[in-house]
Amino acid sequence: MSSPRPLDHNPLAEGLIDFKVRDPSLMVIFGATGDLSGRKLLPAIYNLMKQRLLPAGFAVVGAAIDDLDDAGFRKHASDVVTKFSRTQPLDPQVLQAFLQSLFYVRVDFSKLEDFRSLERKVEELDRTRHLGGNRVYYCATPPPTYETIVEQLRDGGLTKSKGFHRIVIEKPFGSDLTSARELTQILQRVFHEDSVFRIDHYLGKETVQNILAFRFANAIFEPVWNANLIDSVQITAAEEIGVELRGGYYEKAGALRDIVQNHALQLVALVAMEPPTSFEATAVRDEKVKVLRAIRPIQDGEVATSTVRGQYKKGWVLGEEVVGYREEHAVSPGSLTETFAGIRMFVDNWRWSGVPFYIRVGKRMPKRVTEIHIRFKRPPHNTFASARDLDPNAITLRIQPEEGISLRFGAKVPSAGLRLRNVSMDFTYMSSFLVETPEAYERLLLDCMIGDPTLFTRADEVEAAWTFIDPIEAAWRDDRPPLASYPSGTWGPPEADKLVQADGREWHRP
Ligand code: BG6
Repeated sequence: MSSPRPLDHNPLAEGLIDFKVRDPSLMVIFGATGDLSGRKLLPAIYNLMKQRLLPAGFAVVGAAIDDLDDAGFRKHASDVVTKFSRTQPLDPQVLQAFLQSLFYVRVDFSKLEDFRSLERKVEELDRTRHLGGNRVYYCATPPPTYETIVEQLRDGGLTKSKGFHRIVIEKPFGSDLTSARELTQILQRVFHEDSVFRIDHYLGKETVQNILAFRFANAIFEPVWNANLIDSVQITAAEEIGVELRGGYYEKAGALRDIVQNHALQLVALVAMEPPTSFEATAVRDEKVKVLRAIRPIQDGEVATSTVRGQYKKGWVLGEEVVGYREEHAVSPGSLTETFAGIRMFVDNWRWSGVPFYIRVGKRMPKRVTEIHIRFKRPPHNTFASARDLDPNAITLRIQPEEGISLRFGAKVPSAGLRLRNVSMDFTYMSSFLVETPEAYERLLLDCMIGDPTLFTRADEVEAAWTFIDPIEAAWRDDRPPLASYPSGTWGPPEADKLVQADGREWHRP
């Protein structure tokens, strides 16, 4: 086998890094010593710096309750970047420059004077580094802190400088429709909706953006992308990990709120939306919200037959014995929280009339895989006797890992007879572009600085998603359907198979 050609000889790899942030800015990370900041944000900033994508003078101010100074925060940042950066080994020169751009202010979110000290520090950096008063405030903190932070930013004078002020918040955006609306009101008291960046990190994944490129930059797929030829759509987001140390949060969220309400419904929106007039924030988000609003509500009496909820028991995952959900850290021994969700739903519009969308998401499944499997109808007439053994055509958009797209079709087996077999045409990012896809947070942090909200969730999308989720959540709290269980390392409870089998279908086996 020949070795892959170097990057500079691959025409498809050109132009991957094609934009830079023009305006200087500064980012304040609230919760800078926490898990999200350590695993994702600081490593992403290091890698952006490595790719020279950050504006001159860029600085990060870490704001958290820990008693640190600049040096202590830099030491912490060096440790987490060494551990979690996607590029290894670290480049010592880049690391040095990265650490020099980090600063720290101890902030107790309840104390206004701490926000005033933060403002003094930020103002000084702004002046000495010529940052034009442009600021991004990133709340890498639990959602209950958002209201306090937003109000203290205003009262502490942090939204008064002459440049832009943007706020970034992480999901969950509320825990139901009412709380999501309240959160939006709280944010909008201080920030304009255009300056609110709600992160759904799935949207930062290259492969998720590629759904739109695949559909709308090619002429041949859209004509078949509808109920005339598509039989069904399956969306799988499986993880091999359990809840790890997030039991406290997960007990209240469950798979429905943690993944379905946001990541999975965003995938539905991207697969099902109409072509936007351009890849511009309003155009894209307008089309997405139309899909989310067109999802047929699952009526109270139908939740038991259209959904499945499950919880993992002990079992084996990737050769390791693991405990059941109820034995996990910070999980109640009698917990009824679901770690698996399966849903059959419909998008009630002209394009998708009658096409079921099946969603299944779960933890402690056999492997980590996220994919969208689009299954086409069978040909109207069976010309070949052995075509009965073929599976229908299918397009699989593989979000992660082994990112790529494959098309399944029938082909003649080379021999004298006329036997047919399933074969597939495969595109993988790695073999075509010869680069690893960047971390979602790199793209999203850049977009915040540029001020492009296309890949962030707008308030109306969040509300439309909760409108669909709330009645399901209510029935589940009422034990309809009853909580099923599945051994760790399996594809969910048997009830999930029955959900698709009831329609004469099977789950695609990734
Ligand atoms: C997060 C969820 O939003 O997404 C986690 O809160 C989940 O529970 C994670 O593990 C999965 O993201 P990724 O990028 O690893 O697929």
